[in-house]
Amino acid sequence: MLAADLLYEGKAKKIYRTDVPSVLLAVYKDDATAFNAQKRGEIVGKGKMNCAIAAHLFRQLGAVGIPTHFIDQPAPDQMRVKAVTIIPLEVVVRNIAAGSLCQQTGLKLGTVLKQPLVDFYYKDDALGDPLLTRDRIALLELATEAEVAQLQHMALKINTILSDFFQQCEITLVDFKLEFGWDTHHQLLLADEISPDTCRLWNQAEADPDRRILDKDRFRHDLGDVEAGYAQVMARVLAQARSHP
Ligand code: TMP
Repeated sequence: MLAADLLYEGKAKKIYRTDVPSVLLAVYKDDATAFNAQKRGEIVGKGKMNCAIAAHLFRQLGAVGIPTHFIDQPAPDQMRVKAVTIIPLEVVVRNIAAGSLCQQTGLKLGTVLKQPLVDFYYKDDALGDPLLTRDRIALLELATEAEVAQLQHMALKINTILSDFFQQCEITLVDFKLEFGWDTHHQLLLADEISPDTCRLWNQAEADPDRRILDKDRFRHDLGDVEAGYAQVMARVLAQARSHP
């Protein structure tokens, strides 16, 4: 990997060009940020753990017909991915009220939603990734109405698959964020990552509202044992992968 090949450095990954224009290399970092990078730190081993978790989840989703950018994992912290044009929307699916949903609506933490909620945010750090309405997505021409419907449909399908998978790991999938992009054939692919950085994951064996948290909320809210939370998710995901190859 040459510095000259670095295409983009994000908060959690570096993206490199490869010899093949349609293939990029994502290198997962240990750097952690929260609250639009106002809080910064490092989670030791996160790059390798998130890469392993995301690789397995992308494989699972691919196997049941969800097109993703994942190609393979040439090293523990590296993923070869198909190059896509990212749609500047963060698609959040929520099963249980937590985080900004509680702050913005007054819903009590842990309220089970009658049906999954899909929220769209504008992927723009300078604006603080604001919550969008359908009309604002149209106004800004971020996606057509048909594309928004396609994103919502895919996000809900992914939610069903991931919720079932994490249930087998005795983990509750509270909510998560997805990003999508267009490949060179104008096919919509699931992109970015799915990991404890981008999901809320609760250990079903723990009733305590802080101790049950296995995701980046441990870092966001200084709960300690951040690495241990990620390691627990990785161990359960990989054990599940071994028993259901
Ligand atoms: P929120 O409750 O802060 O809106 O977060 C909802 C979900 O989206 C949660 O699982 C964390 C994830 N998320 C990201 O992956 N990146 C972000 O920048 C934010 C704000 C949330």
